Amino acid sequence: MNRRRFLGIGASVLGAGALVAVAVPSAARLFAEGRPGRLLSSELDLPEAFRVPLPVPVVLKPVRTEGTTDYYEITQQVAKLEILPGVRTEAWTYGGSFPGPTVVTRSGRTTVVKHRNELPVPSVTHLHGGHTPADSDGYPVDLLLPVGSSADAAQGAAGKAGPAGMPGMAGMPGMHHAAGRDIVGERSYTYPGRQRAATLWYHDHRMGFTGPGVWRGLAGFHLVQDDEEGALPLPRGERDLPLMIADRSFAADGSFSYPSSDPALGEPGVTAAYANGVLGDVILVNGAPWPRLDVDRLRYRLRLLNASNARLYRLELDPQPAGGDALVQIGSDGGLLASPVAHDGIEIAPAERFDVVVDFSRYEPGTRVRLVNRFGTGRTAEVMCFDVSAKQVTDDSSVPDKLATVEELSSSAVVTTRDFTFRRSRTDGWIINGERYQPGQSIATPALGTVERWRFSSDLHHPVHVHLDHFQVIGRNGKDPGPYDAGWKDTVDLRPAEAVEVLVRFTDYAGAYMLHCHNLEHEDMAMMADFTVQ
Ligand code: C2O
Ligand code: CU
Repeated sequence: MNRRRFLGIGASVLGAGALVAVAVPSAARLFAEGRPGRLLSSELDLPEAFRVPLPVPVVLKPVRTEGTTDYYEITQQVAKLEILPGVRTEAWTYGGSFPGPTVVTRSGRTTVVKHRNELPVPSVTHLHGGHTPADSDGYPVDLLLPVGSSADAAQGAAGKAGPAGMPGMAGMPGMHHAAGRDIVGERSYTYPGRQRAATLWYHDHRMGFTGPGVWRGLAGFHLVQDDEEGALPLPRGERDLPLMIADRSFAADGSFSYPSSDPALGEPGVTAAYANGVLGDVILVNGAPWPRLDVDRLRYRLRLLNASNARLYRLELDPQPAGGDALVQIGSDGGLLASPVAHDGIEIAPAERFDVVVDFSRYEPGTRVRLVNRFGTGRTAEVMCFDVSAKQVTDDSSVPDKLATVEELSSSAVVTTRDFTFRRSRTDGWIINGERYQPGQSIATPALGTVERWRFSSDLHHPVHVHLDHFQVIGRNGKDPGPYDAGWKDTVDLRPAEAVEVLVRFTDYAGAYMLHCHNLEHEDMAMMADFTVQ
């Protein structure tokens, strides 16, 4: 970094004029590290940053509660939303909003969510990070067909084949699959709640069309709470904020723009130029572009979720508080860490969650604290801002040194070691262990109750996600885990030419589950595999 750029970074704290200067070193790094994706530029003027207040998704109320079960209902529907000020965007939504409503459940209680599909396309709902029986896990060919679809449509859908480029893809948009269990109109997903407190999210998982489905709005938070976490003096209520960070691009008419190879969505996949992932030029937090939030000089809990299709972020606060360590991580994908880990910045890949506490009393009253993305350039280097108030307040929250009891899986318990390679093939798209995804074709059969060592290796960046059970990262390239690997994870970012080792124990539910890349363009273009727990 030369001196001039360095000065540019300093100046940017004072105003927006130096944003491009901030971007230069990140761009060099981005190229050097081979981050995936290609920028899709919006065709309309983008709004200024830090004008729109941060929205917080509503918490969904149960329609009924009985004994140990809570029942919820969500209607998947097309909605016209004002995402960019003064611009109407047609979205595919859970319940009419993007993000969808937040589902808050209690560990130990069963949650039943009835989804009704009023979208123009089939859907599949997956609870990401959920410890879920196979028939409610959102297997990608278990389609929920739109209300009013005829039994014929369901029939016609059966038996047709897989993801991009496979035979049998013609017919009704998105209706092709093999061996799926079609349901028309409404279906219930059951989540038994046998898992600890954690920040989960739900999103569309339809075979071949997860990328466009999530891009158009099909994503929401699902928070699990429990007594262990509830007993801690962490910030709560309005100071416990889920933040869904997602990049999007907009067409001239205000619609979401997405480079589907078939704009009618009859065929999955994106045009060749975007095969490595679609990057938007607008950064949304909870569905609002570069929003702002007034904060008091108190601790806030920020549940960071990267719901982007392909974009990786390095999130930092700017300015950093004196002494650094602004982002105190208390949890990861699978809930609380044993003890907090302080970071100056957090690198977050698609689908990962980092639960952090920020103490805004470390800033002078009146400070504008920007949440920035050091991997971004220009507008994508900004995320949101916090304006620190001058109000006199006292904080009743704290971050204890011991957060939770976290069992450590031990390598000595491993019964089987398996290797999974993630790479691009010249002829077959994105593949795992040399194969394109084939529903029903299992590449691993772990036994219920056992611990396995899974080794993931990659050519490029791939955020690898395993359904059913969380795992623990025990090494990267034969060395110790990285700074963002702590705790129970369900998604881990593989960097180019990297091998990551994890331990996972398969518990409670037998059946067919997925492991896949969570770069949604890679996923839709076949970088998925089934494993069957027996
Ligand atoms: Cu977040 Cu299999 O997905
Ligand atoms: Cu990938």
